[in-house]
Amino acid sequence: MKWIEVNSYDEMSKVAANIFTKQLQEKPTSILGLATGGSPVGMYEELVKRQQAGQVSFKDVITFNLDEYVGLDRKSPASYWTFMHEQLFNHVDIKEENIHLPNGKAEDLAEECVAYDARIKEAGGIDLQLLGIGVNGHIGFNEPGTPFESLTNIVELTESTRTENAIYFDDPKNVPTHAITMGIQSIMNAKEIVLIAFGEKKLEAIERLKSGIINEDFPASQLLNHQNVTVIYGGTK
Ligand code: PGA
Repeated sequence: MKWIEVNSYDEMSKVAANIFTKQLQEKPTSILGLATGGSPVGMYEELVKRQQAGQVSFKDVITFNLDEYVGLDRKSPASYWTFMHEQLFNHVDIKEENIHLPNGKAEDLAEECVAYDARIKEAGGIDLQLLGIGVNGHIGFNEPGTPFESLTNIVELTESTRTENAIYFDDPKNVPTHAITMGIQSIMNAKEIVLIAFGEKKLEAIERLKSGIINEDFPASQLLNHQNVTVIYGGTK
């Protein structure tokens, strides 16, 4: 695992954007794994600027997002589909048909889980996967206790995660109870992974990851078994 300590959120965003820029310049047909949340907003903003300046193009890029809420219409303001369009997709030259998020409104959710992993495989597998980390060590919506071999699956959100995500909803009661998420193994199948975390709130999770102990109680720890992970982190105590 490669560790890069940064002094600001802005620096984290630029360092992460550099890794994505290099990937897109070397392989314009890259398959990217993307994430939602507060952590990647700055990196997406940076990539939009670089695309508009002609340094990168998403013209032949295919994306797969980690997760989506169950039961939320994709056009809902709080859906991850909307988040990704607002933060990135609406501002770059990506083709709509190359954008993938799990369908949280699928009639057969179990079938959608299997189909999502199959779509990633058919596309050729993820070249570069972006991750945030939850204060409890979750990656995607894989909460503590999730088996490391999990593939895309339906999860019940923990109260801590629902509380953290309530900021995106008018009323905390409207935070869905379930989500569809790529599993830990689906994430581990990516050829390269970048995990970003900035701020005091995240330090404990970063310290736990640094301790090197691999345990299903701390989902991100499985990343220690991956050959190509960069963690970009920082923040003050
Ligand atoms: P955040 O969430 O980027 O909004 O902090 C990350 C996560 O919980 O995975």
